[in-house]
Amino acid sequence: MTDPALRPHRNFYGRTHGKTLRRSQKTYLTEDLEVLRLPGVTFDENPDRHPLDLAARFGGRLVWLEIGFGGGEHLVHMAGLHPEVGLIGCEPFVNGIAMALGKLRAAEGGNVAIHPGDVRDLFDVLPDAALSKVFLNYPDPWPKARHHRRRFVTPEYLLPLARACAPGAELRVATDIPDYVRQTLEEVPPAGFDLIRHSGEPWADWISTRYEQKALREGRVPDYLTFRRCG
Ligand SMILES: C[S@@+](CC[C@H](N)C(=O)[O-])C[C@H]1O[C@@H](n2cnc3c(N)ncnc32)[C@H](O)[C@@H]1O
Repeated sequence: MTDPALRPHRNFYGRTHGKTLRRSQKTYLTEDLEVLRLPGVTFDENPDRHPLDLAARFGGRLVWLEIGFGGGEHLVHMAGLHPEVGLIGCEPFVNGIAMALGKLRAAEGGNVAIHPGDVRDLFDVLPDAALSKVFLNYPDPWPKARHHRRRFVTPEYLLPLARACAPGAELRVATDIPDYVRQTLEEVPPAGFDLIRHSGEPWADWISTRYEQKALREGRVPDYLTFRRCG
């Protein structure tokens, strides 16, 4: 078994807990998460970081990933639109996970798996070229210049993401922060992706998220970027 001292140290600067959960949300977390959770991602469960058997989980379907799904609006929407794919949602914020679980219970789809934690732990155990589409909707903006290296669009995240993407896989990024657009355009292509679309218009199958609604109310303007994994 791998020596715990060899585990990578990963700083996580976001929130994992918010206000007190409602009773129904606690039920979702105790009952539903156990069924929907993707096993074998945490270091405790998989200390040697064996690749996940995604075919066993999704029956050979194409696999998509949403990173930081927040309250799950987009995750649940996409899962409903595309029952033919397996969708992994990743989110460390417990209140968001609980909200998404409530929506999933109502939607009754069977094609979603959840990693309730940091996407970097998931990247460790995704097989090479496992993903055919990835959504990064409104990643944490980290507006201060000294915090820009915490952003998702840095090699610490992008290189393992690129490894896990199949050639031709689509990466969608939505953001309301002009400087995040700048950094995305600078850092995503060298990680192995080509920009194929940059627009103020969302994708045809888009659903607006809670975060986007707040951004629009506050007068910020979204950018929607699409990249394709080279190869
Ligand atoms: C600004 S919120 C946007 C949420 C949602 N995508 C939306 O559009 O409403 C960013 C989300 O990314 C999540 N996040 C931050 N770091 C993450 C990480 N390392 N792995 C997975 N999710 C992360 C946060 O917990 C938060 O819910």
